[in-house]
Amino acid sequence: MNTIDTDNNDADISQQIRFVSHEIRNHLSVCDMYSQILKKHLVRDGYSNPAADNAIDCIQKALQIISMNVADLKSININKQSVLDFKSCVESAYEMAKAYIDDKNIETEIFIKNSAIIKIDENRLISCIVNIIKNAIEAIEIKGKISVFGEIKDNLAVLKIVNNGKPISQDKQGKIFDCGYTSKQCGSGYGLHICKKYLNSQNADLELVKSDKTETVFKITIPLV
Ligand SMILES: Nc1ncnc2c1ncn2[C@@H]1O[C@H](COP(=O)(O)OP(=O)(O)OP(=O)(O)O)[C@@H](O)[C@H]1O
Ligand SMILES: [Mg+2]
Repeated sequence: MNTIDTDNNDADISQQIRFVSHEIRNHLSVCDMYSQILKKHLVRDGYSNPAADNAIDCIQKALQIISMNVADLKSININKQSVLDFKSCVESAYEMAKAYIDDKNIETEIFIKNSAIIKIDENRLISCIVNIIKNAIEAIEIKGKISVFGEIKDNLAVLKIVNNGKPISQDKQGKIFDCGYTSKQCGSGYGLHICKKYLNSQNADLELVKSDKTETVFKITIPLV
């Protein structure tokens, strides 16, 4: 009879995860170290360039997020809630996500009406916002516009991410948060599922407000401290 030795199989998988995490971490440290060295050199040589500073900050933030995800693989990482300013958190995610625009003709705007202190895992929130803006960029084929609006209203921090790309068809709108649902050739369909899961685990929420010919709107709500 053909049986699967589950215990041995699990042990192999755990060991493999540890090895792969170890290798990823090593290379993350190299990237982190060199981005710090680069920053020091720019300061030392008196080279002042906001775009270069911003790029290095985004790389360092992205490295932190990858590192957090690698820690998740070992199930040792729980939400690390910290007290932070809603506006600055959204602004750093917005800066990071713009890297995905590449050579598309996409106009972007951000307007944060007012701000407040929120208590949430900063890296996870940034990661969710980046995922949603990345989807918005992917929905725009050649030319379009993405707007990010934030405000504090009714004891909630509310963030809306709007784009005027290809809409989600009515019959698919109920499926987009399902694990593995994708309409893209190279998509995994995990993005929105993970975002909603992480936000819900911190009493926050993510919903699709509307998607039609004129615009697609996603909304994140986070309760205030
Ligand atoms: N802003 C958007 N405009 C149009 N369709 C969208 C938008 N956001 C999400 N979708 C639809 O929802 C699906 C699921 O999105 P999700 O981010 O979960 O996965 P994905 O983008 O396909 O793959 P990945 O796991 O790489 O993010 C997308 O494939 C797309 O069909
Ligand atoms: Mg996605």
